[in-house]
Amino acid sequence: MVLIRIPKSWQLPERLATPESAFVNRRRFLRNAIAAGLGTTILPVLGCQDQSNAESSVTSGTVPLESTLNPAFSEVDRPVTDESLATKYNNFYEFGGTKSIWEKAQALPTDNWKVEVSGLVKNPRTYDIDDLQKKFPIEERIYRFRCVEAWAMTVPWLGFPMRKLIEDVEPTSAAKFVSFTSFYDPKITPGPGLWAANYPWPYTEGLRLEEMANELAFFALGIYDRTLPKQNGAPIRMVLPWKYGFKGGKSIVKIEFLEKQPATFWNTLAPNEYGFEANVNPNKPHPRWSQARERIVADGPSFNWEVRPTLPYNGYGEYVAELYSS
Ligand code: MTE
Repeated sequence: MVLIRIPKSWQLPERLATPESAFVNRRRFLRNAIAAGLGTTILPVLGCQDQSNAESSVTSGTVPLESTLNPAFSEVDRPVTDESLATKYNNFYEFGGTKSIWEKAQALPTDNWKVEVSGLVKNPRTYDIDDLQKKFPIEERIYRFRCVEAWAMTVPWLGFPMRKLIEDVEPTSAAKFVSFTSFYDPKITPGPGLWAANYPWPYTEGLRLEEMANELAFFALGIYDRTLPKQNGAPIRMVLPWKYGFKGGKSIVKIEFLEKQPATFWNTLAPNEYGFEANVNPNKPHPRWSQARERIVADGPSFNWEVRPTLPYNGYGEYVAELYSS
């Protein structure tokens, strides 16, 4: 079978000069054209060619991942971040303390990956990535992404809602919290260096069970139509768009359902700076900086990046505010 790949809005070079409404509509038009079977006849006329064949080393090891766009999460109030930025400006402390870790992260061994799900569940399971792809339909969701460091991106994630996994393993009534553990092997993940010698590896994150069951909570297996690059947390990571980015653990190997709130990496290291809940909140400053505004990651120096007001729950209050009403 010949795969005809359709460039997405972020692959069209003129996107930056195009108003968002126009390119979102064009993207829909392209999808509809494909659905109508017009792809092969119309697309050459539009000059749409496969630009992803020239696979860069930033995405080495990734393969195309098919998905269905979830219409509820098909656009946000800002353009999708260029793939080249989202895959080269990262936080992955296992591979270093700077944003430029993508080359070092290529050491992550992702073959034969297993995710063990255990604890207070009726059906403990160990999944491999193929199991997950087959078992749960892969959707695409475009979410705003807000780091606690006050920079923001917009990312097209491919994956499945966390609640599907909850349904599969069936937590018992005693389960109240969930702990997520990232890959760690000191021979492969050296960390940022001596100044970070006290970091409480492995990287762990945690949620209340109701947070994990929320419609927005997502496991990503890919971005930008391909499986996840290693630096973005291959082969499976957490995505919680109403929380600060550090809640989104990368390269998950273990998920445990628990009765008590688990310890988490940043909260253990600096509890006065990073809470367990960590919902995006413009009115609650970080002890060392304001959270009232965010800088939208773009080409060039960060002082030139567009600045926007931070939204409560990162703009997702209608989905999640009720989780925090008491
Ligand atoms: N997960 C692990 N295992 N290690 C990390 O250092 N950094 C977190 C989060 N998940 C981190 C992690 C932080 S601080 C952010 S902002 C996001 O990953 C960054 O995700 P990105 O590099 O894909 O943008």
